[in-house]
Amino acid sequence: MNPSRRPLIAGNWKMYKGGRTGVELAQGVVEISRTLGSGVDLVIAPPFTVLAAIASTIEDSSVKLAAQNFYPKNEGAFTGEISPLMLKDCGCEWVIVGHSERRQYFGESDSFVGEKVASALASDLIPIVCVGETLDQRQAHETLRVVQQQLHAFLDILARSPRAVAIAYEPVWAIGTGKVAGPGEAEEVHAAIRTWLAEKSDALAVRTRILYGGSVKPDNAATLFACPNVDGALVGGACLEAASFGAIAKAANH
Ligand code: 13P
Repeated sequence: MNPSRRPLIAGNWKMYKGGRTGVELAQGVVEISRTLGSGVDLVIAPPFTVLAAIASTIEDSSVKLAAQNFYPKNEGAFTGEISPLMLKDCGCEWVIVGHSERRQYFGESDSFVGEKVASALASDLIPIVCVGETLDQRQAHETLRVVQQQLHAFLDILARSPRAVAIAYEPVWAIGTGKVAGPGEAEEVHAAIRTWLAEKSDALAVRTRILYGGSVKPDNAATLFACPNVDGALVGGACLEAASFGAIAKAANH
C-alpha cells in the first residue's frame, strides 16, 4: 500500500449532533482512535455549531476535523455563510465539497463545485470531493459518463496542487438507503476514477485517496476495503455511533 493512500475513514455527521451530544461522540471517536494505531486516518465532519468545541476535544489525538460545507470567499457580505478562513480558524484541516445533498437540495453545480475545490486548496483546506450518479443514471448505463463529467469540473485544479486530496464516490441511490454498491460496482467506478486521474498526472493518481460512500456499515466495510482502488469510506448514518464508526475503521486498519 502506498503510504499516501493509507486508508481514510471520514464521518459525515450531516445535520445531527450539533451540540453536547456531538462533543460526546467526538470523545468516543478519540477513544477508538487510541486503539487503532497508525494504520488508518480518521476524520470527522460535525455541524458548524460544534466545530470549535470539538477542535478542543480532539486536540491531543490523531483525529482530524472537517467541515461539511463552506462558501468560497474569504469574507464579505454573504449573510449566513462560512468562509474557508473561518474553518481554518476553528481547527478544520479538511472540508467536504460537492456532496450530492448539496447538489440536489441547494443547487450546487459542477462549476460551483470546481470553484469551491480551488478555494479550499487556496486556503490550505483539504477537500473530500464527492461524485456519484443517481439511480436513473445508473439504470440508463450513464454512471461512468456522469462521474467523469463531475470530475472534469475539478481535475485540472487537483493536478495543479501538490496536496493529497480525497475523492468520494457516493452513488446517490446508496446514500441512506441501506443499498450498498457491490464491491464490483464500486471497484469499476473507483478504477475508472484512478485512470482519469492518471491521465492528468501519475503523481495525482498515486496520491489521491478514493473513498466509497453510501450505506457503509460494519458488516459490509471489509468487503469494500478489499477492492484495490477503494482507499477508505465516507460514512453517514453509521458514523453517528462511535462503536459502529470504530468498527468500520478497524475493518480498514490492515
Ligand atoms: P449513509 O452512510 O448514511 O448512506 O450516508 C453516506 C453519505 O452521504 C456520506 O457522505
